[in-house]
Amino acid sequence: MATRKKIGLIGAGNIGGELARLCANKELGDVWLYDIPAKENFAKGKALDLEQNGSILGYDSSIRGTANWADLEGADVLIITAGIPRKPGQSRDDLVVTNLPIIRDVANNAKKHCPNAFVIVISNPLDAMVYEYKRVTGCSKQKVVGMAGVLDSARFQLFLAREAGVSVKDVRAMVLGGHGDDMVPIVSMCTINGAPATQFIAKEKLDAIIERTRKGGGEIVNLMGTSAYYAPASAAVAMAEAYLHDQKRLLPCAAYLEGEYGYKDLFIGVPVFIGGNGVEKIVQLPLTDAEKAMLEKSAKSVQSVVDVVKKTT
Ligand SMILES: NC(=O)c1ccc[n+]([C@@H]2O[C@H](COP(=O)([O-])OP(=O)(O)OC[C@H]3O[C@@H](n4cnc5c(N)ncnc54)[C@H](O)[C@@H]3O)[C@@H](O)[C@H]2O)c1
Repeated sequence: MATRKKIGLIGAGNIGGELARLCANKELGDVWLYDIPAKENFAKGKALDLEQNGSILGYDSSIRGTANWADLEGADVLIITAGIPRKPGQSRDDLVVTNLPIIRDVANNAKKHCPNAFVIVISNPLDAMVYEYKRVTGCSKQKVVGMAGVLDSARFQLFLAREAGVSVKDVRAMVLGGHGDDMVPIVSMCTINGAPATQFIAKEKLDAIIERTRKGGGEIVNLMGTSAYYAPASAAVAMAEAYLHDQKRLLPCAAYLEGEYGYKDLFIGVPVFIGGNGVEKIVQLPLTDAEKAMLEKSAKSVQSVVDVVKKTT
């Protein structure tokens, strides 16, 4: 008999709530919204509100709040947002000291209770947090990815679409590298339904869009006082859906590299096929020399944060 999938959302804050709403609305499975004991009632309240929402919107997914990892036993997918978000003036890397013990706590529990889950890490600093999750759990590189590239690419695509005056549906673009201010928008492969974007957008406008994309998260933090959550949640759900429905989607994700693009023992954003086996393949694109140089700079930034993490192990 077919069973419903079990989705564990670790962190019931802004992104966690939006993740629960999207997973339920798409009926991806039954949802457990986990948070620390001090936030258990908050998680339960949010879950109940979202479950009642199903009576109006017409979904049957159950959504429950908990502070007990035993409730997550055997989850098929885990999406991790546990940790604090940025405040205005902070970089993602400033969060490492606070969020490191949190990801370690989550990883130890996930290893015990959800050893077979496909795991998507969202907590910042993203590339270092997903590295630490894999190190602590020892899970396979197929079963853990970081979400950043889908979001950063969405920002890039929106700015390109607005500048060119075309539908976002026709803009295809990828942002690779680390989830920081050195991220690498791949202009050489950016198209408007196959036509090179450079045909529609002047170089100086393109340069300004690249800069805005790199600072895209900070722009929202400065406006709201906390980080974005609607688009980040949609990005992670697209990745979860690719796994649960074996879609074989080619998505930019922070994946564990073992020599691809010239990097080893590092998570950075690269194009990967996500399907029923998790990260099924890392795709190596023919980057221009300028793009390779930007990737090198970005990888060095990520490595410096990972080195901080390694020093405390
Ligand atoms: N990767 C990305 O592209 C991206 C985008 C936006 C935000 N983020 C990051 O995602 C994280 C979450 O953002 P948010 O806006 O949802 O924050 P939030 O503060 O609204 O929610 C985080 C939740 O994590 C919980 N938490 C803390 N310790 C925990 C633990 N040990 N176990 C389980 N839960 C725990 C908190 O109680 C809180 O409810 C932040 O680190 C933020 O920087 C990443």
